[in-house]
Amino acid sequence: MKVILETHRLILREYTMEDFDGLYAILSDPETMRHYPAPYDEKGVARWLTWSLNNYKTCGFWLWAIQLKENGQFIGDCGITMQSIDGESLPEIGYHIHKDQWRKGYAKEAATAVRDWFFAHTDYAAVYSYMKYTNLPSYATAASLGMRRVKEYPDPKDGICYVYRITRKEWKKRTFRTLQTERLLLRPWREEDAETLYQYAKEPEVGIPAGWMPHTSPEHSREILRTVLRKPTVFAVCLKDGTPMGNIHLNFDTDMSDREDECELGYWLGKPFWGPGIIPEAGRELLRYAFEELGVNAVWCGRYDGNEKSRRVQEKLGFVYHHTTHGLKVLDGLRTGHVMLMTRETWETIYRKETI
Ligand SMILES: CC(C)(COP(=O)(O)OP(=O)(O)OC[C@H]1O[C@@H](n2cnc3c(N)ncnc32)[C@H](O)[C@@H]1OP(=O)(O)O)[C@@H](O)C(=O)NCCC(=O)NCCS
Repeated sequence: MKVILETHRLILREYTMEDFDGLYAILSDPETMRHYPAPYDEKGVARWLTWSLNNYKTCGFWLWAIQLKENGQFIGDCGITMQSIDGESLPEIGYHIHKDQWRKGYAKEAATAVRDWFFAHTDYAAVYSYMKYTNLPSYATAASLGMRRVKEYPDPKDGICYVYRITRKEWKKRTFRTLQTERLLLRPWREEDAETLYQYAKEPEVGIPAGWMPHTSPEHSREILRTVLRKPTVFAVCLKDGTPMGNIHLNFDTDMSDREDECELGYWLGKPFWGPGIIPEAGRELLRYAFEELGVNAVWCGRYDGNEKSRRVQEKLGFVYHHTTHGLKVLDGLRTGHVMLMTRETWETIYRKETI
């Protein structure tokens, strides 16, 4: 048995001909196959298996059998197949789960791991999913993989089809990463960080200048961790031993820009650590990550009037003044906001020179 991937609850492995009965139970079931032209007969199931076995050799991937870790039960398959989508041969994530196992999140869990495997092991620029427009669970799964609907077209076999896609660039933005600098570790926040987060985020001098209310309890911090900070481009700024001191993030939903290739940099640091250039050091690495790895073309950064410490951080990073807005409603009052910009060109001029 050749195992390809493991997730929290699942093992994805290559098919063998011994999977025939389990697969037949899935593919011959009219309810499971209601979005297909017809359920499969024995010949069709045998073809499905030999097609997978052959393609492991020629492509290095195809549909993989899914087994439950807890008892080894075969519950379906998930993988990448090359499909003709509106006349183009494109890699498609597919999933088929036994109906007894629906609504347990298995398709999403398997497909997420398959998506990550595919980008890490191949050079394709994007991966797709397409389905008949009536197949609601399938496009909900595609959306949960970070895919967006990019097309709809009339398929001669299936009728109207929706095409979903996630590009390599979009995928990277969804991936949790750990970055390093000389003194720092920038890592994803974890729920266990709640107490430490509270220590620093309860201070009014940290939250108020940045535009958010100080945290009121460790539970409040835990809630913020879950809802705000546990995201792929949000990083705990840590000492090398992993102890958090503050936060730095790239926000792609910023109202500073509606372009997909632009984002906003934000940061705060616990008071005991102010002064020796921690955030400028973290900021330089985040700019590198944004421009070099995420393919971003511009990074915005704002601050409210009077926040001189933040102004210095932005200056030291090389941001260029862009505009000022008065009368912004923030917390209980009105503030003036200054917006700074770093274009790819500026970044290359400053930082590429530094590395030569
Ligand atoms: C803004 C902030 C992130 C700066 O982080 P940092 O890692 O301390 O940055 P630096 O060490 O480069 O210090 C920046 C400037 O702050 C000033 N500063 C640092 N420590 C200070 C202190 N204890 N008291 C007064 N000023 C201080 C210095 O003028 C320094 O500029 P300099 O290098 O020209 O001397 C941090 O002060 C903070 O978290 N503030 C509250 C939240 C916030 O305002 N976030 C930004 C929202 S836009």
